[in-house]
Amino acid sequence: MASIPRSMIVGTGVSIPSGILTNKDFEKMVDTSDEWIRERTGMEIRHIIEDGRYTSDLCTDAAQKALADAHLHVEEVDMILVATVTGDMGFPSTSCIAQEKLGAFNSAAMDISAACSGFIYGIALGDALIASGKNKTVLVIGAETLSRITDYTDRSTCVLFGDGAGAVVMQASDGERGVLGTYLKSDGRFGDLLRVEGLGTRYLPTHDSLDHRRHFIKMEGNKVFKEAVTSMGDAAVQILKQTQMTGDDVDLLITHQANLRIIDATAKRANIPPERVFINLEKYGNTSAASIPIALDEAIKAGRLGMDKVAMLAAFGSGFTWASAIVRF
Ligand SMILES: CC(C)(COP(=O)(O)OP(=O)(O)OC[C@H]1O[C@@H](n2cnc3c(N)ncnc32)[C@H](O)[C@@H]1OP(=O)(O)O)[C@@H](O)C(=O)NCCC(=O)NCCS
Repeated sequence: MASIPRSMIVGTGVSIPSGILTNKDFEKMVDTSDEWIRERTGMEIRHIIEDGRYTSDLCTDAAQKALADAHLHVEEVDMILVATVTGDMGFPSTSCIAQEKLGAFNSAAMDISAACSGFIYGIALGDALIASGKNKTVLVIGAETLSRITDYTDRSTCVLFGDGAGAVVMQASDGERGVLGTYLKSDGRFGDLLRVEGLGTRYLPTHDSLDHRRHFIKMEGNKVFKEAVTSMGDAAVQILKQTQMTGDDVDLLITHQANLRIIDATAKRANIPPERVFINLEKYGNTSAASIPIALDEAIKAGRLGMDKVAMLAAFGSGFTWASAIVRF
């Protein structure tokens, strides 16, 4: 019996906007302190998108770099998956807008809405499309402009979020390397704890809706924190079980970068020591779907994920959604 083909990541790229907000900047905006932000989150700076640029621009920039890294021409792309909760418009999809900017006209394109877990959902979908033979070259992009939906009068959320994008190119694997497993989970009962209610059709952009600040992120941070610790830990344990691996087999843990304490707790659940955990949230804050592909690109370029190294990816986000994957490079 022929074995099911595997997919692998053949190129990565990022787009980091030039604007910067530091903890000190927030001290002038809301009642907070550099010390509180560092202690409670681990964050120091976040990048903010320039006026006149949009999520699709970050997607395009990151995707072009990932294709160059993979030595592939844009015409070879036959599927574009964009994970985002901050798309340019209600529709068309941000992936279609990015497709036009890229000139990737041999591809289909669609968006994935799974919040901070969206990039791993994209990897799982890209892997399935390649394994089934439906697609040959899939671009998976995680991209966010969270600054545009952040309430800069709410100290409990505004210090957390930043903008950016990361992209990977996936193709069929040539053997034992590639995506070894993926795990996806959701629980809609927790939807109210982390939401932007005013960007859909339930609340139209009326004066009342704007007065209630419904177009901004609202989060019950403490409750989200507790669920994130449990569920991201669960995602890590489940993917180890599925791939019949242990924490010892993982060379690098790359999680969604929302909070240092959540990352530490996940690493402990998976028995992965701190020296094998990748952290960059001090430089970017929480960039939702973009955080893992940005970290992945940095880890590869820093030489921490060379040939045959094993990475575990794990995420948790609004929905709630949570997800994990194990990839051999
Ligand atoms: C947001 C988060 C950092 C807050 O940390 P926390 O330790 O849970 O803090 P709490 O929300 O319990 O608030 C503790 C106190 O700090 C205050 N506080 C909140 N934000 C503050 C800020 N920026 N500066 C100073 N004080 C702040 C609160 O008002 C509260 O004060 P009180 O005790 O007088 O009521 C944390 O809950 C978190 O990371 N949540 C999860 C985020 C996440 O995982 N998201 C995943 C999907 S994106």
